[in-house]
Amino acid sequence: MSLSGRKVVVTGAASGIGQATAMRLVDEGASVIAVDVRPTGLTREHRADLSDPEQIDRVVAELPDGIHGLCNVAGMPPSAPPWAVLAVNAKGLQRLTELLVPKLADGASIVNVASSAGMGWPNSVDLLEEFDEIPFQRSALEEFATRHALQEGGRSYSFSKEFVVTWTMRKRWKWRERGIRMNAVSPGPVETPILPDFLATLERASRVMEIMDRPARPEDIAPVIAFLLTDEAAWFRGCNLAIDGGLTSHLLMEAHGLD
Ligand code: NAI
Repeated sequence: MSLSGRKVVVTGAASGIGQATAMRLVDEGASVIAVDVRPTGLTREHRADLSDPEQIDRVVAELPDGIHGLCNVAGMPPSAPPWAVLAVNAKGLQRLTELLVPKLADGASIVNVASSAGMGWPNSVDLLEEFDEIPFQRSALEEFATRHALQEGGRSYSFSKEFVVTWTMRKRWKWRERGIRMNAVSPGPVETPILPDFLATLERASRVMEIMDRPARPEDIAPVIAFLLTDEAAWFRGCNLAIDGGLTSHLLMEAHGLD
């Protein structure tokens, strides 16, 4: 796999999966431009809080043209205020991506980090459609979260990931004329600073940890993201790849009695 000479924007590059992704991309010869609210230690970095539409607009204006890849990794954990989870994980990811498309090179690849927590999206179709109409404003997101009790059991988080999974699939051909494709990856539990938060907040987390042999390491996720950026992955479009040690297959087969 080579990404020699490719310019790739990585959000959330200060920690965990984003940091491992940035390091892997550098190893593959890419030139990484980090976007994070915290310092990343990378040579090229832009600081922005992705819960704030104005900061997203500012950072997009600062970024150069001719970008070959965008990795949307930044995310907030389930214990964060529900409006902020919806802002960073869903509306912010969407806004940054849509605004950045004109600065992407033809043939560019976008990779969104969703989660196995988003696998229940078929039960949320009405809510997802309603969310489309909600403006990217703190008050509107707070109202939406309260109305749908998204503060309970980390629901804001799983809903934000259902959005990422479905938005990725819905936009499978949005930029097809320019050869720009977008995919998602859905990790199960990953050993990063926010794992304890998931375990304490998400309803299904303790059961998940019982059936898993181990959580992933960020280095289990990063090479798959890097591969999706390469030309060899050109026929992946609108996919959601589970990188979870078999968790999704297990839960699906169990649910359908095919164990
Ligand atoms: P992390 O906490 O190590 O990294 C998150 C990164 O996002 C940090 O660099 C942080 O500064 C940045 N970030 C957070 N809020 C931000 C904001 N408002 N503006 C800009 N940057 C912001 O967590 P981790 O685990 O590496 O998470 C990365 C992604 O992976 C997230 O989208 C998360 O939901 C997802 N994920 C994580 C799993 C896990 O078990 N750790 C499992 C499945 C998905």
